[in-house]
Amino acid sequence: MMRAMQTSLEYPMLSAVVDDLATRGWSQQALFLPAALARALAAECRRRYADGELNPAGVGRGAAQEVRETIRGDQIQWIDPGQAEACDQYLAAMDELRQAINQGLFLGLEDFECHFALYPPGAFYRRHLDRFRDDDRRMVSAVFYLNEDWQPEDGGQLRMFLAGDVVHDVQPQAGCLAVFLSGDVPHEVLPAGRERLSLTGWFRRRGNDPF
Ligand code: OGA
Ligand code: MN
Repeated sequence: MMRAMQTSLEYPMLSAVVDDLATRGWSQQALFLPAALARALAAECRRRYADGELNPAGVGRGAAQEVRETIRGDQIQWIDPGQAEACDQYLAAMDELRQAINQGLFLGLEDFECHFALYPPGAFYRRHLDRFRDDDRRMVSAVFYLNEDWQPEDGGQLRMFLAGDVVHDVQPQAGCLAVFLSGDVPHEVLPAGRERLSLTGWFRRRGNDPF
């Protein structure tokens, strides 16, 4: 298929992510997808923001969800297939990663949900886990960054709190993918000094919802 050919990932990179998840619960790949695709995704995110399609992100789930800018200040829009070529290429790449994780870790990941996220200057996301108390379908978190020439002094790092009091920061540099086990790795987004764009998503297993 054309689309799969275009986004076909390097096998060594997929197995590196799977190995990292198995051995330490997180992975970081500096150039997971081509810079041109990251640029196209950034343009798509900015266009949606300019058109007013992004909305303040909520905290919590379902009816209990509320917007609390003291916890998180990003603006988001969920992505569906068939909206934009760049988004479809991203979804195809993440489906390859989903299959590689299933083959290596037997997590039974069924789908991938993701949204654009834009942090305006000054926005942050306080320390949290990505798994909801009432919904444990989210197994693996994956954040793909869209920001060219990010400097450490721009802030906005993804800070992961790892075993043994180790703290690891990821710069949200275009092309970089951060992956971690949703239920195991507390993390935060430090205040961003400039606009910070990403695609944030979750691989989910089947729910035990009886319906
Ligand atoms: C999230 C999140 C991290 C990041 O949206 O849940 O933790 O680096 N994002 O954007
Ligand atoms: Mn998170």
